[in-house]
Amino acid sequence: MYGMVNKAVEDMVCLHHGEAVWEQIKSEAGVDVDVFMSNESYSDDITYLLVAAASKVLKMPVEQILIGFGEHWILHTAQEGYGGLLQASGKNLPDFLRNLPNFHSRVAMIFPKLQPPRFECANITAGSLKLHYYSHREGLAPFVVGLMQGLGKMFKTPVTVRLVEAKTQGADHDVFDVTWTTAPAA
Ligand code: HEM
Repeated sequence: MYGMVNKAVEDMVCLHHGEAVWEQIKSEAGVDVDVFMSNESYSDDITYLLVAAASKVLKMPVEQILIGFGEHWILHTAQEGYGGLLQASGKNLPDFLRNLPNFHSRVAMIFPKLQPPRFECANITAGSLKLHYYSHREGLAPFVVGLMQGLGKMFKTPVTVRLVEAKTQGADHDVFDVTWTTAPAA
């Protein structure tokens, strides 16, 4: 994955636990990289090793680290670095989610070697939809949960996310039930 992903893991850990803990996590992971370059590609293994080491050092389950990372990705990485891209993709949560299937094709203009996830929206109602998530990577469903929670906070729209079909349980891909509070009529 692009270095910006590992850099974002670093930012999240440093923000909440400080630099010394980040150094400990890198050493536990056996990752010997001083500075991650945002627009260089790194092996996915590095990201998985860092997340596993963070889980061990912080004594938190991997799922919880990934959920926190999803929120951090939206509320810090994306909002601070790519605010324009986010704003162009919808002015409220339901609009943003409906546009999500096309989102990473814009990201790919900045990062040409991107291997993005694929999203599809189905069963769309005023207050819910089913989000289908396809990836060639494993174990990132909790990251998607965190991303949805982060978007809910960004749009100040309470949101609930439930994994209803899981690849880890034999499903073809992950499916989430995403439900939000609809704004009262003005
Ligand atoms: C401006 C904001 C964003 C940028 C710049 C961005 C960029 C990226 C990058 C660089 C990766 C790593 C893939 C690679 O390097 O090959 C990635 C992965 C991913 N992104 Fe985004 N992204 C953004 C917003 C979002 C949003 C809003 C969502 C969903 C709500 C999302 C969902 C994901 C997921 C689930 C992955 C994991 C890859 C996988 O499943 O295979 N991203 N993104």
